[in-house]
Amino acid sequence: MKDATFDTTHGELHAELSDRFDTTAMATETTLLNPRFYTTDFDEMDRIDVSPVREQWDALLAQMKSDPNKGHFKKTADWDHVDWEGMDPKLRAEFIDFLVSSCTAEFSGCVLYKEMKRRGTNADICELFNYMARDEARHAGFINDALREAGVAVNLGFLTKAKKYTYFRPKFIYYATYLSEKIGYARYITIFRHLEAHPEHRFHPIFKWFKEWCNDEFSHGEAFALLMRTDPKLTESFTNKLWIKFFLVAVYSTMWVRDHARKDFHEALGVDIDWYDQEVFRKTSTIARQVFPMEIDIDHPAWIPTLRKMNAAMLDMERAKRRGGLGGRIAHAMASARAGLAFARLYLIPVIPRTPPANVRLEPSY
Ligand SMILES: [Fe+2]
Ligand SMILES: [Fe+2]
Repeated sequence: MKDATFDTTHGELHAELSDRFDTTAMATETTLLNPRFYTTDFDEMDRIDVSPVREQWDALLAQMKSDPNKGHFKKTADWDHVDWEGMDPKLRAEFIDFLVSSCTAEFSGCVLYKEMKRRGTNADICELFNYMARDEARHAGFINDALREAGVAVNLGFLTKAKKYTYFRPKFIYYATYLSEKIGYARYITIFRHLEAHPEHRFHPIFKWFKEWCNDEFSHGEAFALLMRTDPKLTESFTNKLWIKFFLVAVYSTMWVRDHARKDFHEALGVDIDWYDQEVFRKTSTIARQVFPMEIDIDHPAWIPTLRKMNAAMLDMERAKRRGGLGGRIAHAMASARAGLAFARLYLIPVIPRTPPANVRLEPSY
């Protein structure tokens, strides 16, 4: 079924790559760590009234309407030739994994936003989700173009149908999506700034596109910050604070585990993974002060050691799964209990309380 699910071109390397990387399958797989596809209560979202934040809303929407990145996601003379064949095979594998998971994450945003736009009747909400779907479609398409040069690409149409959808109540969509947009901004800009200082590590041209790219993610995050501001309960009630903390811990620890699985990729970029992840957490937490009533204490003495424990437990879970059989199942259960404990420990680290400012809006400043 390769032909149906793949977008392959010819050539030996291409054949070899598509044998080794079933990218659409990689993207379709639902695990704890892979980017997910979401669905929600669209009717409830459609009832949001943005009047409490009208002025800031209109300014943000006008900026999105002006479409500053309209011409950005096209290959130009800056797109240097990529020597896929000469690339170290381990790096190639991890880089393709990085591109596939980024493409899936971008596309997952696109699908959710488009669906909201399609089902909605609220003019404000439909307009916002229309612009965000437009941006994410461009982002996913651009990554897919880069993958296509390696002879592999994610079949996005297939993905829409094959991927499992996770239902989240609208408020969980706000927390998770707000965070993933802002973390996306922080990740892209941190890599961009690092490569600006160390261009010798830029082993692929796509990184040159990250600066304008991350500004789109920044605006998307701004929109969710405004949506959360329409209802103070979302960030102020006791239960919702517990949920916000849950999402912070879940999103940060997932990123840690996922990044630590890509050793060669980060080595090629000249990036120390621990440094990079902490830097991204720090930027994200600082930005999130605009709307979240707390931040995770990432300098707490238990933070990094517990993340390491969690990572080790996840690796053991994977090994146990590959081993199979009764022994594998027992080992898997034990490792997964360890991962659960590590998560609980992270969750119990006291947060730093914050009081969001009266004016929610921010501009990208990194
Ligand atoms: Fe995006
Ligand atoms: Fe986005």
